[in-house]
Amino acid sequence: MILKNKLIKRFYLISTLLFCGLVFIFLWQDFWQTQQLLIASSESKEKIALDELIQPITLQLELNQSKVKLGDKLFHEPRLSDDNKVSCASCHNLNIGGADRLVRSMGIQKQLSFVNSPTVFNSGFNFKQFWDGRAETLEAQIEEVILSERVMGGGSWLKVINKLKQSEYDSWFRKLYRDGITGDNIKDAIATFERSLYTPNSRFDKFLHGNQNAITEEEKQGYRYFKSYGCISCHQGMLLGGNMFQTFGLLEDYFGDRGKVTKADLGRFNVTNNEYDRYVFKVPSLRNVVLTSPYFHDGSAETLEEAIKVMAKYQLGRQLPQTDINLIIKFLRTLTGEYQGKPL
Ligand code: HEC
Ligand code: HEC
Repeated sequence: MILKNKLIKRFYLISTLLFCGLVFIFLWQDFWQTQQLLIASSESKEKIALDELIQPITLQLELNQSKVKLGDKLFHEPRLSDDNKVSCASCHNLNIGGADRLVRSMGIQKQLSFVNSPTVFNSGFNFKQFWDGRAETLEAQIEEVILSERVMGGGSWLKVINKLKQSEYDSWFRKLYRDGITGDNIKDAIATFERSLYTPNSRFDKFLHGNQNAITEEEKQGYRYFKSYGCISCHQGMLLGGNMFQTFGLLEDYFGDRGKVTKADLGRFNVTNNEYDRYVFKVPSLRNVVLTSPYFHDGSAETLEEAIKVMAKYQLGRQLPQTDINLIIKFLRTLTGEYQGKPL
């Protein structure tokens, strides 16, 4: 009996010791990790406010510069189209914000696009391409555009490749790619160029990097409204967009009010055939947005003021005072960045 009691006592003692030991190890690990984090954050040269839902655009990307150069040539090359008249730059003019300032774009043989052309600037950071996100990658987006009967009319890669092979591109491609001109290599070069079209160093990014004077008090107020009214719940991340899908007309019936619903208006539904995806679109980036009117996939808003009123009504179910709209516009103006070191 005594022996048994002793055994039980010893068992309890050992268990308690073991338990305390485990707790100690656990707490120590936690403490250690916190220390490491503190060290890491104090080591980072620039202090980026970690609580922000918006991140500055990467300052420097490592890209193969020879491919960027070749991609640049191809991007501006009308011979990529069937009638040698339409290049990517026809609808994505880099001198006017990377789009064309038209409600609909003009493709081969003056065919109009079904939706407004978005900017190519920063498109490399989009989680998917096109308004309905039907292209998973830049390469898939390029393939569709070059071969499309409506956009560049290529029809098949063979035709495009044969044309380029009889030109100076033949030797340019051979220098960079072992197998010379192929569909994949054309896509690779253009996609690399597209990735080079990022626009860091906007005044807002300087503010995010810790320079409190980079934006004015009014612009800061506009940013506060952008957050407090809830724009930021959809327009967030590095691009203030480009990282999720949302219904256009979340709280009020946008398409019912606008009328004349087209197939393109069905948005992501056209990709998934899922009822939940009716009228769902990729939330567009708001980087450089002052330069890329008209707005929305249907190009229906000519000014930022109109666009914000529509957003407030249909996405947030409210009307904003004019003064608040003006301040939000001032904030959006701080999002214009630099391309190759020059303001866009
Ligand atoms: C005829 C005008 C036209 C031409 C030519 C054209 N695009 Fe576009 N581009 C558009 C339109 C319109 C859209 C939107 C289509 C959609 O979402 O369904 C678009 C979408 C894109 C997107 C997606 C951006 C985003 O935010 O989703 C990228 C990237 C792009 N084009 C790059 C290119 C490249 C590269 C070329 C040349 C190979 C090219 N485009 C040729 C009009 C054009
Ligand atoms: C519930 C999500 C959501 C909220 C909240 C929201 N947006 Fe949007 N925003 C979108 C979507 C989706 C689109 C694309 C609509 C379309 O054209 O199909 C868009 C488009 C835009 C555009 C047009 C961009 C372009 O290039 O065409 C602007 C500008 C804009 N939003 C600003 C705002 C502002 C400012 C607020 C706050 C007042 C706001 N948004 C709130 C989802 C949202």
